[in-house]
Amino acid sequence: MISQKKSFCLLLIFCLFLQEIIAKAEVPCQPIALKCEHLVNPIGVDAVQPRLSWQLNDSRSGAKQTAYQIFVGTDSLKLLKGQADVWNSGKVLSSSTLESYKGSDLKAFTKYYWKVEVWDKDGIRAKTSFITGFETGMKGMKNWKGSWISDSHDVTTKPAPYFRKTFSASKKILSARAYIAVAGLYELYLNGKKIGNHRLDPMYTRFDRRTLYVTHDVTSAMQDGINAVGVLLGNGWYNHQSTAVWYFDKAPWRGRPAFCMDIRIVYEDGSVETISSGKGWKTSLSPVVFNSIYTAEHYDARLEQPGWNTPKFEDSSWKDVIFRSAPSENIVAQLLHPIRDVEEIPVQKFNKITESNYVFDLGRNISGVSRIKVKGLPGTTIRLKHAERLMENGHVDLSNIDVHYRPTDDSDPFQTDIFILKGNSEETFTPKFNYKGFQYVEITADQPVELSKESLTGIFMHSDVPAAGEIKSSNQVVDKIWKATNNSYLSNLFGYPTDCPQREKNGWTGDAQIAIETGLYNFDGITIYEKWLADHRDEQQPNGVLPSIIPTGGWGYEWGNGPDWTSTIAIIPWNIYLFYGDKKLLADSYDNIKRYVDHITEISPSGLTTWGLGDWVPVKSKSPVELTSTAYYYADAGILAKAAKLLGKEADFVKYNKLALKIKDAFNAKYFNKETGLYGNGIQTELSVALFWGLVPDLYKNKVAENLAKRVEADNNHLDVGLLGTKAILNALSENGYADAAYKVASQETYPSWGWWIVNGATTLYENWPIDAKSDISRNHIMFGEIGAWFYKSLGGIKPDPDQPGFRNILLEPHFVQNLNHFEASHDGPEGKIVSSWTRENNVIQYKVVIPPNSTAKLRLILEKGRNVFENQKTISTENTLMKIQGTDNQVFTKTLSAGTYLFELKF
Ligand code: BGC
Repeated sequence: MISQKKSFCLLLIFCLFLQEIIAKAEVPCQPIALKCEHLVNPIGVDAVQPRLSWQLNDSRSGAKQTAYQIFVGTDSLKLLKGQADVWNSGKVLSSSTLESYKGSDLKAFTKYYWKVEVWDKDGIRAKTSFITGFETGMKGMKNWKGSWISDSHDVTTKPAPYFRKTFSASKKILSARAYIAVAGLYELYLNGKKIGNHRLDPMYTRFDRRTLYVTHDVTSAMQDGINAVGVLLGNGWYNHQSTAVWYFDKAPWRGRPAFCMDIRIVYEDGSVETISSGKGWKTSLSPVVFNSIYTAEHYDARLEQPGWNTPKFEDSSWKDVIFRSAPSENIVAQLLHPIRDVEEIPVQKFNKITESNYVFDLGRNISGVSRIKVKGLPGTTIRLKHAERLMENGHVDLSNIDVHYRPTDDSDPFQTDIFILKGNSEETFTPKFNYKGFQYVEITADQPVELSKESLTGIFMHSDVPAAGEIKSSNQVVDKIWKATNNSYLSNLFGYPTDCPQREKNGWTGDAQIAIETGLYNFDGITIYEKWLADHRDEQQPNGVLPSIIPTGGWGYEWGNGPDWTSTIAIIPWNIYLFYGDKKLLADSYDNIKRYVDHITEISPSGLTTWGLGDWVPVKSKSPVELTSTAYYYADAGILAKAAKLLGKEADFVKYNKLALKIKDAFNAKYFNKETGLYGNGIQTELSVALFWGLVPDLYKNKVAENLAKRVEADNNHLDVGLLGTKAILNALSENGYADAAYKVASQETYPSWGWWIVNGATTLYENWPIDAKSDISRNHIMFGEIGAWFYKSLGGIKPDPDQPGFRNILLEPHFVQNLNHFEASHDGPEGKIVSSWTRENNVIQYKVVIPPNSTAKLRLILEKGRNVFENQKTISTENTLMKIQGTDNQVFTKTLSAGTYLFELKF
């Protein structure tokens, strides 16, 4: 007999259960966008504690998460029923949407499924997420079965090698994965088909310290019975045969490309078979008769061996492979957005000069390759010369980008592919192991060929990072500057950030620290930067010194590597923390930042440092190197102190805070004139760098900002800065009450300005302000690209809050600048889309804001006196203080916003 009390309890439990089911069904909240290691459904994950993240799909105002529970299991059906055989986090009272896996050790080669449940703003359990997964990879060196193999040729041999092997899959296949580590570049084929759509894999690293392997799901490429696997190896940065001023041909790691691969097949009966690289593989030279990541590729179609990567191919004339030592003892998973052929660009203009000489114009400057379709006589040699400029006579001009190239003969022309035809039917050629920077392609054939506009297509290649932001405005030039900035950013993202895609392809640190915010507002770049900071760790000397280009074959430890460039070690992890709310990169880089800062301290006991290049490629005035380098030293010490605090290293926090203060004092003692409120000679870079990096004592900020505004006005509202000044100038103005002045500079269309390039036809950013400059004249540099971030920060006013990073709290401070009637910025942050959009009509400003779920914003509006803030026709009560800007009174409204959509009207 059940007692009355017991049955009441059971009824209550049942009712609660029912209530929960009903509530759950009704709660309009569900976790979505699940990622592991910042990627969707990744395979080949080796992280010990993979990071799991999600967003809330909840459009209610004030939406937020009050708790979560993560379930990880190896059986998706069981997981569906809530049975997690691997890890159940239990209910965690937290609003965090980024957590590391904390279950028992993950096994190699295993598919893990996971889902997350959340409790909404009212503490009600919401709908569960869909189930997603991640799959582990090699998890260390001990699981590799294959051997490193290559052919017997040496580093000077030009043709790229083919490798092949056949094997029999004896039973029904459940799944198959290829794990391939390469010193050089590769394309992998199974049964005649190329595997995957990645390009230029694996990404460039310091091969003798860290070599990347890539995991491919090859299940669908496998067939019953006999299978053939084919590998084509390219040189990449591993065997740099072209000669240029950075001596990559002398890199310590250099060798004939080699690879190691395991194809792990799981049969339906549960048994596992691994097909590995080793003896038994055969090799032959391929029709890729020359390939250089730096210059171009040459292809002789007459040497094609049809079906070389299929089972039936007769390979008795092929040679045996040889064993090779591994390039490094550190073979790690490549887990990032890969390089892809992202966009096909049709030719805009076509010029037939003769029967055998044509010039194609893509109408825009890109990084990548061109694809040609052509029909001609056997042996016809076609040269495809890629350039950013045309000469007056209509031929392409390489003189702005071949200046650092040091060819030893004429067999390797710069940015010029060579394609030799098999003959008679239409043939297609696209290089596999090279990319270039170009807008124009000139084709010269040694026999007449008939080409049309459609014969050539441009292919924009870059690390395929998802877009994460958009700018739209009523000023077309602003919109074009934003697009050109993104084009240059992407043209310079190839698994590491570069300076330019043509002349150098170098991982110049200075350019990358300048562009980090532009990159992160516009693209989901964390995976690329985490990889690149690992490159930093590989390259750092024990004393903390970093080279100016990363990766490097050794060049750059002696030139250009002061704090104005190599502060990437601190600035990039700090920005990743701000944008993603993810501490991992900061924690991984902590000791490296510390060694770096300690080294500067050692060589700069006074607190001032002259180590650096200074304000590179300035318009006219040049500020002292000591001023700019010391500002970066100060920034690094500050980041280190903040990181110490975050990571619970209290003693370091105290020590580096003290150091930062010492640097600030030394800086101000030497450069600041309290009487005049000027730094140094009072030029734009001097004043704005001091303001932007926070070196100006609070008491004097207004005075210095006023001086900067006057300086800019005296410079006719045009730029007078170089690389370091462009990072600071617009921000220094708009953050200190002079947004209108900043916008004037940002939107100029006459020299020197970004708009000047645009009105002259630029589709990317240039390396120098004058278009007809004689040196430093690449047409695809990201180093002046901070303006792309400034649009978000100042006109849109969207900034991450260091106290609640990852846009958990948004610092929202738009500037409704004069002479611009509409502006909209949106950014996809970790919690969802943030929108800040304003329109001015008849002196009324409509301001629309979207704050994603699980976020808040601190809105701060600086408005003319008398302008009121209305929401739903009503004035809203805000904290309202007065602020003097340029001698006139302004009102500062502040209000805290929770998740939701808002429409404010700002009127008199
Ligand atoms: C690069 C720059 C780089 C600079 C260092 C140039 O050759 O292209 O972007 O930062 O050298 O001074």
